[in-house]
Amino acid sequence: MAENDRPCSGDQSARCPGRTWDELADADSRTVPVFLRRDASRHLGSAPLSTDRYTSPEFFQQEVERMWPRVWQFAAREEEMPQPGDVVVYENAGRSFLLARQPDGSVRAFHNVCLHRGRKLRTTSGNVSEFKCPYHAFTWNTDGTLKNIPCRWDFPHLEGEKMELPEAQVALWGGFIFIKEDAGGPTLQEFLAPLPEHFERWQPEQRVTTAWAGKVVAANWKAVAEAFMEAFHVIATHPQIMAFTGDSNSKYNLYGDNVNLAITPFGIPSPHLEGVDLDQQAVMDAFLKYNGRVVPQNTTITVPEGRSAREVMGDFNRKRFGELAGRDFDHASDAEVQDALTYNVFPNFSPWGGFSPTVLYRWRPWPDQDHTLMEVRILSFVRDGEPGPGMVPMRMLDADENWASALGVLGSVIDQDMGNLPHVQAGMKASKTKKLQLGNYQESRIRHFHQTLDKYLET
Ligand code: FES
Ligand SMILES: [Fe+2]
Repeated sequence: MAENDRPCSGDQSARCPGRTWDELADADSRTVPVFLRRDASRHLGSAPLSTDRYTSPEFFQQEVERMWPRVWQFAAREEEMPQPGDVVVYENAGRSFLLARQPDGSVRAFHNVCLHRGRKLRTTSGNVSEFKCPYHAFTWNTDGTLKNIPCRWDFPHLEGEKMELPEAQVALWGGFIFIKEDAGGPTLQEFLAPLPEHFERWQPEQRVTTAWAGKVVAANWKAVAEAFMEAFHVIATHPQIMAFTGDSNSKYNLYGDNVNLAITPFGIPSPHLEGVDLDQQAVMDAFLKYNGRVVPQNTTITVPEGRSAREVMGDFNRKRFGELAGRDFDHASDAEVQDALTYNVFPNFSPWGGFSPTVLYRWRPWPDQDHTLMEVRILSFVRDGEPGPGMVPMRMLDADENWASALGVLGSVIDQDMGNLPHVQAGMKASKTKKLQLGNYQESRIRHFHQTLDKYLET
């Protein structure tokens, strides 16, 4: 554990001593995309954050009023609503929306509230020919126009435009359906840049949701999201993965206001294990045992003399993921078939890049500053010429169900993250200093996120 105790130098551009992710990329058996090689780190200051940002109902209310209506929110995947008449109920931050697939294939989003006396028009997703309110049967067409008012004679004052369901903006990218409540503002492409450019080679539009679980966590939505923004916590929270995880070798990039990326290399031991005798086969064995995302349980792979676990895992995954996807991934770098390429788009959308079946996170306040609905999906390729698997619905975990029961080994890692979070929320409330301190580099994505949030709250 020598590395853990070694003080880094005092300058703000300090990095973990030893190997960097870019040195691994230099040694990759394939060419690593230039956009991953670029250093897009920035020092954004070292000031503490106030715990009020996570615990105060007033702060939460500001987010609801000033931030959420103005951002593009990931609301659904296209495979959730492929047919005309398919409807997805999407709720967040005090709003409820009906996403409706139109006869021409487009998607529109309407506020899911009856304009009579305010009942939610629907509480579940499904396929419909109209939106009929279950209370008094006011009815709308799926394009949001008014269809029928029972006892029409009693409502001569209600007609035409003022009875159309209010609509939100909708835009699609990569099989993801986004909505924005307020009019105007950046286009989705502007908001997501440069993410669509990076993801072009990983083809999210050719994938579907093949696993999906959600659970309500007793912590602020930002605290939950931030548990997935850095690899610094591996040393204490996930010690079992250190044998194959270059946690403090991770690279952190910030793009514009909305997008950032953490690249955590796998297939190498943590720098924290410097001095521990760990051969390449031991690295591979730990990788196979504790990284359920990459290989089926009980798989064994021998690392030949003179080769590294990372190289061998690269070969194995290129072949395996290629077979799973029915595609040739021979061009895929070792990095893109095993590292964690964790992107975040402000405020709550986090897709992993790469050629593997990829992870996707989303976090929503549920419904207040002290609770979050966290969701984890796996997006997998659909093989050409074969029908994709049917839509997998979200499995909502009860308080006493763990993530491992839904997502296997990956879930057991998430369970470790979740173990911290209620104590983070309670600790922030109990804090005497009311301050949180961040590492300059490894926690730069958290600072980036808060600075963008402030831009919304201040305007
Ligand atoms: S509240 Fe919807 S019809 Fe009355
Ligand atoms: Fe974690």
